[in-house]
Order: sequence, then C-alpha cells, then structure tokens
Amino acid sequence: MAKYRIALMPGDGIGKDVMDAAQIVLEKIALDAEYIPADIGWEFWCKEGDALPQRTVETLKTCNCALFAAITSKPKEEAEAELVPELQGKGLVYRSPIVRLRQMFDLYVNLRPCKAFKGNPLNFRDDLDLVVFRENTQGLYAGVEFHPLPEEVRGVLEAHSPRMSAFEGVPSDEIALSCRIFTREGCRRIVRAAFEYAKKFGYPTVTLVEKPNVIRETSGMMVREARKIAEEYPGIELWETNVDAMAMWLVKNPQDYGVLVSSNMFGDIVSDLCAQLVGGLGFAAAGNIGDEFAVFEPTHGSAPKYAGLYKVNPTAMLLAIKLMLDWLGETETAQSLEQAIAAVIEEGRVRTYDMGGDASTLDMARAVADRL
Ligand code: NAI
Ligand code: MG
Repeated sequence: MAKYRIALMPGDGIGKDVMDAAQIVLEKIALDAEYIPADIGWEFWCKEGDALPQRTVETLKTCNCALFAAITSKPKEEAEAELVPELQGKGLVYRSPIVRLRQMFDLYVNLRPCKAFKGNPLNFRDDLDLVVFRENTQGLYAGVEFHPLPEEVRGVLEAHSPRMSAFEGVPSDEIALSCRIFTREGCRRIVRAAFEYAKKFGYPTVTLVEKPNVIRETSGMMVREARKIAEEYPGIELWETNVDAMAMWLVKNPQDYGVLVSSNMFGDIVSDLCAQLVGGLGFAAAGNIGDEFAVFEPTHGSAPKYAGLYKVNPTAMLLAIKLMLDWLGETETAQSLEQAIAAVIEEGRVRTYDMGGDASTLDMARAVADRL
C-alpha cells in the first residue's frame, strides 16, 4: 500500500488545465502515493444538484489530503436556472463546494504564502516574502444570512441594539443581513497558527489585520485574544493594523511585513493584494489546513475565458503541491520543487502569457519537471 492517499479534484475551467500540469510534476516527484480522482464543480451541480457530491466527501475521508484546482460559482438565481429541468423548483441552493469543504473538514487555517521569485517581470519588488494566515471557517463567510429579514430576528435585534433604530420603517424584505460570527477559540487557533509559523521559519513579527475601532465585538475579540497569545512568543512582535490602512501599507512598504493574520473576509482580500505584489493569481497558492486533513489549491478561480486553452500559468498549482509536500513532512522534496520553479522563472526561457511569454501551461510544468 502507498504511504499516502491523495485526492485530485480538477473542478471546472482552467482547473483541468492546471491539474494536468500538476500531474506532470507529480509524476516526476514520484512520491509514494496513490492519487484518487474525485468529482467536484459546476458540472455536478447542473447534473446532480450538488457541486460536492457525497461520493467525493466519502473519498476524501479515506485520503490524507487533497489537491484541488478551481471551480466556477454563480449567484443563487443563475445557479438555479442552470440545473437540469428535473432538479429545478426543488429548493436546491448552490453553495461553493470549497467553502463547504473548509467547514465540513474544519480546515480553519488558510495559509497563503506570497513570495517573490527573482526575475519575475510581474513582481512589484523582488524582495517580498509575505505569508497570510486567513481564518477559514467563520466570520462573514460562515454562511449565516437572511433575506428577507425574518420578523423574529428583527425583533431580537431591535430589543438588543439601539443602532437598529437607523432602519426603522424599512420593510423587512428590503433588508439583507449577513452575520459576522467569531468564536474565541476560532480567533485563538488562527493567531496561534500564525505565531507557530513565524517561530518555525524565523519571522520577527506577526501583523494582525482587523478593524477593532469600528467592528468592536468581532475584530475586538480577535485583538484581545491575539495580545494574550503574543505573550507566549517573547521573540516575536505583534503588530496591529486596521485593514484599510494595511491595504495602503502593503502598497507603500510591503517589504516591512512577513506573517499577516486576519479573519475570513479581510484575509481573503488582503491575500489577493499580497498575491498581486508577487505576480498575481498565477503565483498564489493556498493551503486549507485542519488538524487532521488539508486541501491545497491555487487561489485563482476557473477563469472561463481561458478554459481548455492550456494558456494560464501553472505556477500557483505547482506551489500548491509544494505546500502539500511541506504539510506531509516531505520537506526536502518541497524545497527542491520550489527551487525548480524559481530557476525556471529566473531563467525566463519558458514563460506563460502573463509573464510575457508564449509557453503553454504544460510547457511550463515540463520545464519545472526537467529541473527537478
Ligand atoms: P479567476 O481567478 O478565475 O480569473 C480572473 C483572471 O485572473 C483571469 O481572467 C486571468 O486573467 C487571471 N488568472 C487567473 N488564474 C490565472 C493563471 N493561473 N495564470 C494566469 N492568469 C490567471 O477569477 P474570476 O474571473 O473572478 O472568476 C471565475 C470563476 O471562478 C467564477 O465562477 C468564480 O466564482 C470562480 N472562483 C473560484 C475560486 C476557487 O475555485 N477557489 C476562486 C475564485 C473564483
Ligand atoms: Mg479570493
């Protein structure tokens, strides 16, 4: 029996292109692993009414971890309209399968390293090494939302918050509510993961990105817990910034930052900003990591306009493999892979369109595999 069982979920659009690229590199690495293909994505929503079929969930339960490429998501009404006729009008609701995976397997860490590769023409600067820890299961993406606002919920809000007077007289079907839910433990475990990473890899600071002066209760809880946890790491300084100011600082002085930690939505936004500083979505990978299971992915979506053209940059997908290798404890292989990617980018002979080249997705993966 192989040492690892790893699920491969290509998903939609360019997800398939970059997963093909991944397989070239996985073959070269020759990890002692069994790779199990698993269904996910829009196709399964339309045909079966579930973008994350139960059989996929069962497969994942037998695996150490998974590589996921990308899926297509669409708003509620459009999603309903694309269901096969037999499934329409049954009250099926589309929810992003990757968000569901994060919640179902309690993958509370979203780890997004954004490291500049030397010579990448898309870099903002060559000396950037940012690592974003984004809380992955709670906050504004917890999925607790209402429209119209139910009368019972409205009654409770009015009884408990004087600020609800601002909405007096607005009909309930004219109000939409999305709840930002934090738990103390949710705050603690993401901040702790960030500090542990800073300690392990020698980063001198951890920057907390929130907005406690305005969102007093949720951001406030995160700040209070972070201050307590920081005391356990005497060599590492806790910096506190507001998310809006952080967007400015990241453009002004990105080289001053290392490990960043934030809640679900702010972390999502800040990590896209960090990704662009090191070349954009073609270079940004993420680990969705829990205590028992993890899913590694490029952070880009299915980019429908490039689907099947084998044109997009596979680097983000290959960096997702690197994160997976780190997590599995295959540290040396992880390092070799990163070095091979860095060498191909610096050398500059094989580059996809986003870097100004004309190499295909698979050409670039083959160049990396040849370097390994
Ligand atoms: P996207 O990430 O799919 O693409 C946006 C643009 O970024 C592309 O048009 C392309 O110019 C560039 N890009 C993306 N990946 C690239 C790569 N590997 N190499 C070079 N350039 C690349 O985001 P978009 O267009 O907002 O969303 C398309 C679909 O993907 C939507 O249905 C959306 O819901 C879904 N999505 C899925 C995600 C996931 O699977 N985790 C994440 C983000 C979006
Ligand atoms: Mg995002």
